[in-house]
Amino acid sequence: MKRELALKQLHEKCLHDCACILRKTATQGVPGDGNANAKIVFIGEAPGAKEDKEGRPFVGSAGKFLAEMLGSIKMKREDIYITNIVKYRPQENRDPTAKEIADCAKWLEEEIKLIDPTLIVFLGRHSMNHFFPNEKISDAHGVVLIANHLGKLRHFLPLYHPAATLYNGSLREVLKKDFRKIPKILKMLDEKNICEKPI
Ligand code: URA
Repeated sequence: MKRELALKQLHEKCLHDCACILRKTATQGVPGDGNANAKIVFIGEAPGAKEDKEGRPFVGSAGKFLAEMLGSIKMKREDIYITNIVKYRPQENRDPTAKEIADCAKWLEEEIKLIDPTLIVFLGRHSMNHFFPNEKISDAHGVVLIANHLGKLRHFLPLYHPAATLYNGSLREVLKKDFRKIPKILKMLDEKNICEKPI
């Protein structure tokens, strides 16, 4: 089956079957969005108010900044796939609970298996800690992490969450700098030069 179709069916299943309690309060589910053949999958935390209203991830102010940063490395949103660890909006944008994250985890696993990206980029500590519970975003940002995920060796790049940098100029500069490492990391991975050291 073509990836696009398989992904569409996965999104429908997620919206129909997800066991997450946040379904009760959210306007609608927000499945992942973007290119089924993307080399990069970005993983954020959870939908905010705008995402909850529109049913698409990263369409608010954090998404605008992300689009700007993608532009800075000559990429467009259509080139990537973007999703969240939790597919429904937590009220008042509170942090998702461990149970909510666990209830949504299988959709994320399926998204990654289907797209099979070269690089997974974490947007913020919540998505990073889902995969690497002991890492601190202040230490791990901008550094490639390698781990066996569901039987496959994968490469991960943790970044600060764009929303966390909107009102913090110095963090914003750190994020922009880390973001500019992406093309070099992709090139190394495409050339099968496993990058195990900080770039
Ligand atoms: N922040 C996130 O983590 N995800 C979104 O979809 C929007 C904002």
